Amino acid sequence: MKEHTLQSTFKHYESDAELPTPERELLAHARAALTHSYSPYSNFKVGVALQMANGEMLGGSNYENAAYPLCICAEQSALAAAASRYPGVAVLAIAIVVKSPHKVIDSPAAPCGGCRQVICETEQRNQQPIRIVLQGETGPVYVFDTGASLLPLAFGPGYL
Ligand code: THU
Repeated sequence: MKEHTLQSTFKHYESDAELPTPERELLAHARAALTHSYSPYSNFKVGVALQMANGEMLGGSNYENAAYPLCICAEQSALAAAASRYPGVAVLAIAIVVKSPHKVIDSPAAPCGGCRQVICETEQRNQQPIRIVLQGETGPVYVFDTGASLLPLAFGPGYL
């Protein structure tokens, strides 16, 4: 028997003011995109911004539906939009911010498991790690260098 440890490392900034400029701008873009969230059922808003390898930034937000299982997370709607709008262009970074109707979220909310899976496949497809920048409504910012670091032992196309 062997025992293995899975670890991931991330950077912790006390606020967005401490961030390098590109990440601060990406977070601001995500914050603006959050205002377009269509979330009348959960009232939970998620905004994202993608930094594309061609220099473009693309915003996205969660997109809900009265048939609840059809709700699309912000990360997945943005990544799908990016693949259509800029085919063949790698995603370099994603900023993700959230806003709850019930409380001020003052710590970063990490993407759900399904979104991690989609981020990982985008990394593999483009052969390009995606930096992940997370903030709540306010408070500290966490930066992960890759999506894979948020999803150890991920399922992927190699198993098929
Ligand atoms: N949501 C996202 O957009 N991204 C996530 O990573 C987790 C959850 C959305 C889905 C739904 O519209 C709302 O947040 C509440 O779950």
